[in-house]
Amino acid sequence: GGAATEGARGLRFAPVAPNTADAVTVPGGYGQNVVVRWGEPILRGAPAFDPEHQSAKAQAGQFGYNNDFLSLLPLRGEHGRQVLVANHEYTDEILMFRGYDPANPTREQVEIAWAAHGLSVVVVEENRKNGGLNAVSRHHLNRRLTATSPFRLSGPVAGSPLVRTKADPKGTTVLGTLNNCSGGTTPWGTTLHGEENFNQYFANAAKVTDPTAAARLKRYGVIGEASERKWERFDDRFDLAKEPNEANRFGWVVELDPYDPESTPRKRTALGRFKHEAAQPRLTGDGRPVVYMGDDEKFDYFYKFVGSKRMAKGGSRAAHAHNLTLLDEGTLYVAKLTGDSPAEQIDGTGALPSDGEFDGSGTWIPLATAYAGGRAESHVEGMTAEEVYLFTRFAGDKVGATKMDRPEDIEPSPRTGKVYVALTNNSDRGKAGKAGPDEANPRNLNKHGQILELTEARNRAESTTFGWSLFLVAGDPEDPATYFAGFPKERVSPISCPDNVTFDPHGNLWISTDGNQLGSHDGLFGVATRGELRGELKQFLTMPTGAETCGPLVQDRRVLVSVQHPGEIDGASVERPASTWPDGPGRIVRPSVVSVWRTDGGDIGI
Ligand code: FEO
Ligand code: CA
Ligand code: CA
Ligand code: CA
Repeated sequence: GGAATEGARGLRFAPVAPNTADAVTVPGGYGQNVVVRWGEPILRGAPAFDPEHQSAKAQAGQFGYNNDFLSLLPLRGEHGRQVLVANHEYTDEILMFRGYDPANPTREQVEIAWAAHGLSVVVVEENRKNGGLNAVSRHHLNRRLTATSPFRLSGPVAGSPLVRTKADPKGTTVLGTLNNCSGGTTPWGTTLHGEENFNQYFANAAKVTDPTAAARLKRYGVIGEASERKWERFDDRFDLAKEPNEANRFGWVVELDPYDPESTPRKRTALGRFKHEAAQPRLTGDGRPVVYMGDDEKFDYFYKFVGSKRMAKGGSRAAHAHNLTLLDEGTLYVAKLTGDSPAEQIDGTGALPSDGEFDGSGTWIPLATAYAGGRAESHVEGMTAEEVYLFTRFAGDKVGATKMDRPEDIEPSPRTGKVYVALTNNSDRGKAGKAGPDEANPRNLNKHGQILELTEARNRAESTTFGWSLFLVAGDPEDPATYFAGFPKERVSPISCPDNVTFDPHGNLWISTDGNQLGSHDGLFGVATRGELRGELKQFLTMPTGAETCGPLVQDRRVLVSVQHPGEIDGASVERPASTWPDGPGRIVRPSVVSVWRTDGGDIGI
């Protein structure tokens, strides 16, 4: 019981009211459980979590910190089980270690942080009695990849002099993946993981004197002297004065084969290097992968990669081996958007132009093409292919790509092929010396963000032209500068700072938020993209104090979310927690994965 009967199919639930509870709040008639918490042992031999006596060795066998992107993959032959893959974006040392001194971290604390970064693969199992989902510890597929695990560089940049280091003179093997934010799941059974804010881990950019190298670091936000976490004190590779190329080995899309625990994940350099938020594929009519990607930075760009090889079907080893090469060959494009309304009607207030829509057309501008054997060709005048792939942001600058309001997650609808781009916010839009409003980014000092709907020409994923319109202009529906695809605003939930997006089996778009500016906690929302109820946005759950909603997945009978950085409030620490979620007073706050289901066993939102 408890499910509402009104609304679009898949969205028939009573919306959750915005709130500031230190809890995950779900609609009436729905149950929830914590699937897996930071520190839960998942590998054979890993000890139970003991925050007062944590060690790097223990952490390397336990679920990592700040889970972000989630993927659920089928597990054939094991009834009621699935394979969960999670990103661990970053560590929050002040919330992890009692008495943490940010100026003087210990070696053990730093090594715990290395082990708490990266990825987790953990098999999960449905609890038939109560509807929950739980981790299966010690399953042979369970795996941790951390900031010290080997990753192979693949595609046009592998072996480049700009990725060679003392420890890796061939420039092919990187230790670790860092700041994995969102990601994607491929139709060939692998997962993609975006290395986002890698800049924060590298020290002493200020000591790099070569002007070209210095300009490259600056364009990627690698600046200053000591890094926030001081890792450079414990491993020279995080010190650019000692290892100038190490930062070039991060900022890629990682591809993981979760079904092969022995496999070395690949950094797919043909997809370019920037602050990769996410990477979600769609197939062309003839079976080639197209991957949509955002660069989460104020005034940066969004991209797509169009593969040149077709996916092999069937489960043979040869087919799978072939599919693991698909992301090494193809063309990388960046988006340029043009509005169809007169520029003077886009005044920065968010007022709709006279044609009633923020909309227009666009082109995908080719930047470079990668071929077999690591060969590549640049399409950008004055840049080599190697430069385009390593310093992709400069390529976007040169070709005049459209400066967006922080492109976060991008996903094509599996139902319609339309692509949804979450533009989370941009507090600098329209400021002196910064880009002003345009029809796709129409609000100055944009606090609440927007979601753009992109339609490829002839609905072909490989098209080089597209149409677009703003599907949602987020904020309090009572704010005139909001828009919900034309749906009556008195009937929608308030939303702010859209970040990750996913689709339910009915084709509705689900949106998680990061950094709600409306005075309540972040949450998860569903919205119809088609039919009479297009634009009807409803809040499905809310987050604990300080947490961002990440990694949403919506299956027929279960919703999965990452509760990332709960308790992350200025001034909070282990001793002075802002949140004690999920275990309550006296217990340390733990980022965790939560599952939600209908207590009567029915489908979500039906
Ligand atoms: Fe890690 Fe752009 O969010
Ligand atoms: Ca994100
Ligand atoms: Ca218009
Ligand atoms: Ca975010």
